[in-house]
Amino acid sequence: MANTLTITDNRTGKSYELPIEHDTVRAMDLRKIKVTDDEFGMMTYDPAFMNTASCISKITYIDGDKGILRYRGYPIDQLAEKSSHLEVAYLLMHGELPTAPQLKEWSDAIMSHSDVFDQLQKGLSGFRQDAHPMGMLASLVAALSTYYPESRKISDPANRQLQIHRLIAKMPTLGAWCFRQRKGLAPVAPEKGLSYTGNFLQMLYKAEGQKYSPNPVLERALDILFILHADHEQNCSTSAMRAIGSSQADPYVSMSGALSALYGPLHGGANEQVLVMLKEIGSKDHIPAFIKEVKEGKGEKRLMGFGHRVYKNYDPRAKIIKQTADQVFEVTGRNPLLDIALELERIALQDEYFVKRKLYPNVDFYSGIIYQAMGFPPEFFTVLFAIPRAAGWLVQWLEMVTDPEQKIARPRQIYLGSPDRNYVPLNQRA
Ligand code: ACO
Repeated sequence: MANTLTITDNRTGKSYELPIEHDTVRAMDLRKIKVTDDEFGMMTYDPAFMNTASCISKITYIDGDKGILRYRGYPIDQLAEKSSHLEVAYLLMHGELPTAPQLKEWSDAIMSHSDVFDQLQKGLSGFRQDAHPMGMLASLVAALSTYYPESRKISDPANRQLQIHRLIAKMPTLGAWCFRQRKGLAPVAPEKGLSYTGNFLQMLYKAEGQKYSPNPVLERALDILFILHADHEQNCSTSAMRAIGSSQADPYVSMSGALSALYGPLHGGANEQVLVMLKEIGSKDHIPAFIKEVKEGKGEKRLMGFGHRVYKNYDPRAKIIKQTADQVFEVTGRNPLLDIALELERIALQDEYFVKRKLYPNVDFYSGIIYQAMGFPPEFFTVLFAIPRAAGWLVQWLEMVTDPEQKIARPRQIYLGSPDRNYVPLNQRA
């Protein structure tokens, strides 16, 4: 069997044989399909990249039909059960699980960079007290670029690793600053002896002059949530990180762009919107009317936390989050919104509209309910997504800058605007 694709152009009757590799043809191979020699050649049209691979990657595997997610080959449920976020970050970065000394060295290196310049802290006072934490976080991460101008040397491997350590380390610190800024509280310094999530919790909740010990159940639950959010291959924010980074911009400004992409309600901002939606529904009796509105809204009103571009089955992360919720509620008490969410899921999964379109709960459907039970306000939920995703963004960025096939990202367009015409002076226009 030949591993090629034969295309016949019916405009000319000519046939072309294109090589197939990994069940894919190269879009550039289509360029030779032309009617006349001076033509540009054939392109593919794929708005929103529904069927276009933009890179070859060895990091994360998703089978959307079967509901499978693996980081470097390891199933997400095994990592969530047995690993920690920093170990997963190491795995994503290096491709293999660390030995005990490697994990210690990696964790120490990350935690040693968790402080952020006091000078940048002064910039916090420039934000409104009610500023959205994602707007603040994207700005603060971009501002870090000005403190580390050497980060522009992206072809230097040691320099790249240093910036990666810094960014993974400083994200919880900056996230905690945004949280406390909205409460009118001064930032709390990182504490090196704690775990990644334990330190984050103390930077959020420690009262001045008092000792703070994170609750181990909540610390572990947050760690599991961080593992689940660490990477998700070529989603909107990761593609933004890769596209910005492809211009050889430094990783700080590239990640600020990724944060902006994540902020949107169709992406990481959905977890905040799920809570808004559940509160709006208010009680189980109102669910049928809400579902009816979604169905009649023709895409205008969506069931937030449902549906996914890749998963056409239950999102495996949503399953694990549902289990984690029970452990959290034993400490915090049951979030009453959970009953509305469970009933909403039950009704939606039996409804022909959702069944036909293969719309299942995604990662954001249940995460917000846990976050709320843990005392986080809805507007902070996307920050809780962004902090662990920093690891994924950075590994994907690293893969992109070290891939000899990658160049500056620059899609083509099909121009259907006005043809050539002459400028008309203002006083001669009708
Ligand atoms: N509620 C109701 N209908 C939906 C939903 C939803 N959540 N999601 C998709 N649909 C419908 C669409 O209206 C469309 O119907 P049609 O065929 O009659 O026009 C069909 O399902 C296909 O939807 P698309 O928008 O074409 O699917 P796409 O792959 O572009 O969108 C997305 C995926 C953005 C995630 C979408 O499902 C959505 O908006 N979900 C709600 C927001 C959300 O939860 N986002 C988080 C995603 S996970 C993440 O980013 C971390």
